[in-house]
Amino acid sequence: MSEPIVLGIESTCDETAAAIVQGCELRSNVVASSMEEHARYGGVIPEIASRAHAEAFVPCVSKALADADLTLTDVDAIAVSAGPGLAGCLAVGVSGAKALAWAAGKPIYGINHVIGHIAVTQLQFGPFPKDALALIVSGGHTSLLHVEDVARRIDVVGTTLDDAAGECFDKVARLLGFPYPGGPHIDRHAANGDPTAIRVPQGLTQGQAGAKHPYDFSFSGVKTAVARWIETEQAAGREIPVDDVCASLADSVATVLARKAMRGCEAYGADTLIVGGGFSANSQLRAKLLEYGAEHGIEVRIPRPKLCTDNGAMVAILGVNLVEAGVAPSAPDFPIDSAMP
Ligand code: KG4
Ligand code: ZN
Repeated sequence: MSEPIVLGIESTCDETAAAIVQGCELRSNVVASSMEEHARYGGVIPEIASRAHAEAFVPCVSKALADADLTLTDVDAIAVSAGPGLAGCLAVGVSGAKALAWAAGKPIYGINHVIGHIAVTQLQFGPFPKDALALIVSGGHTSLLHVEDVARRIDVVGTTLDDAAGECFDKVARLLGFPYPGGPHIDRHAANGDPTAIRVPQGLTQGQAGAKHPYDFSFSGVKTAVARWIETEQAAGREIPVDDVCASLADSVATVLARKAMRGCEAYGADTLIVGGGFSANSQLRAKLLEYGAEHGIEVRIPRPKLCTDNGAMVAILGVNLVEAGVAPSAPDFPIDSAMP
């Protein structure tokens, strides 16, 4: 077969997305977001997100095909995020994808959304080197993974024991009065603040009690420390130096993520670090990873921000990897798995 053409469909949370990837080439990428509808509730409301997916599904898929100048007949396979994510949201995307696959007689792959965040880097940097480490940071996940073969073998090296990095930012952002999702607001304010202004603990350090792996993370203590500091200042009637709080938080989180990722690369003999997930759009993390990578001789592959957040391209490229590796398609009755490991 020439380079496989895959339609990728994404609906794990608040983005309905579809994309066409051929080999390592992104031919179209359409994203519809219901984020604005959730902003006033301070977080994603699953019911609202599911309804939005039902409305946006067909327009997204048809635009992705039209933008690539293709019809469904031209695609070799359909890939869809089967988990992890919100069950109602996954059900809409997976049901739609199954219906398309059945009607057009195409193979379908139910894929892991988190692995998609790793796979997407190929669209910008080309195929994976052998034995890379991957740092996945989003609102729901913070994990360090050993990628032996993106289509067949990925092992968990470390994971967060409580909050994800994005979740920690979103919670502190709420205390500072920023709308959901607050991560990007913290990023912007951090640029003008002093990262040494406030002492913020650095998550779990190696070997600390509770860590299952030396590369586990913990961010709920970070959030609590910042929350206590804000409360104390407010109780004393002092004004909160928002930029300094943001800069100190961002510096602490970016440092611990970058440090553990580098240590992991050295321990696993990996000279490439793949970075993915919505939080990898964060400026402080990007700068720290590139700085530490240069110091340690490790190539850091962070995709452009548009590929970091949820999209269909990440699903489609992983579908291409599975087709090329000769992995059998999913059965027509494959389940959604909101807690997919
Ligand atoms: O991967 P993603 O789009 O959705 C999930 O699967 O969670 O990640 C969204 C998370 C949110 O917590 C959001 O606040 C955070 O990524 N985020 C950022 C930035 N852009 C997105 N956090 C800090 N700085 C940013 N620039
Ligand atoms: Zn995601």
